[in-house]
Amino acid sequence: MRTPLIVGNWKMHGLRAEARALAAAVCAGVQGLGGREVAVAPPFTALTTVREVLLDSPVALAAQNMHWEERGAFTGEVSPLMLQEVGCRFVILGHSERRQYFGESDAMVKQKVHAALAHDLVPIVCVGETLNEREAGQTLEVVSGQVRRALLELDPPAIRRVVVAYEPVWAIGTGRVATPQQAQEVHGWIRKLLRETVGEVAAEVRILYGGSVKPDNIDELMKEPDIDGALVGGASLDAQAFVRIARFLPANDLE
Ligand code: PGA
Repeated sequence: MRTPLIVGNWKMHGLRAEARALAAAVCAGVQGLGGREVAVAPPFTALTTVREVLLDSPVALAAQNMHWEERGAFTGEVSPLMLQEVGCRFVILGHSERRQYFGESDAMVKQKVHAALAHDLVPIVCVGETLNEREAGQTLEVVSGQVRRALLELDPPAIRRVVVAYEPVWAIGTGRVATPQQAQEVHGWIRKLLRETVGEVAAEVRILYGGSVKPDNIDELMKEPDIDGALVGGASLDAQAFVRIARFLPANDLE
């Protein structure tokens, strides 16, 4: 019912020649792969370059951030219209690095989510607790607050199009992956929260896991019932590793 989704978040990596080569290798590696969606999120400056490579391939284009206004005096920002124009299908919103280093609040993430949906972009909304919050037993409270403030004013048809990414901050770029059970606990809980507020449409919302996803842990993560894919940082810069993640097992549709 939910098509698994694997997204590579390249972060601030990828001059255009590197981006072109990486995108080409990803396209070649996932050719013929059915039953799942794959996307890459290059930096803004490489979006059009990567778009050219992705044409005629099933790999979709994603952006890493976006402003909520269509145009205006917002120096340094990129609008939903601009992302649409270069062929983005997805946009990552509220990544913990944006929240931590650039002061993004839940209120800003919410405005961005509404703007993305209004422009036919699929928002990938990132939530997750810090290590201190986990150790203080606040994980579910923190994550539920982020989900509520960003999403729960949306109506069911809108919620259905949203992708949520649970990314525990302590697992991002640290090599310390959440266990499948730790991730499943939070994913199941997010789905329950969505069900309580928007009803059965919650069963259609894809919830990705992010945080040190690698070729050697993806298969176990994907066995969990509420893990519908992955948001991959570091390993997405290595085409071979990312392709292996996109080819997670078990699957009965591999070539
Ligand atoms: P990581 O990053 O895979 O390098 O931990 C994940 C992310 O930040 O989306």
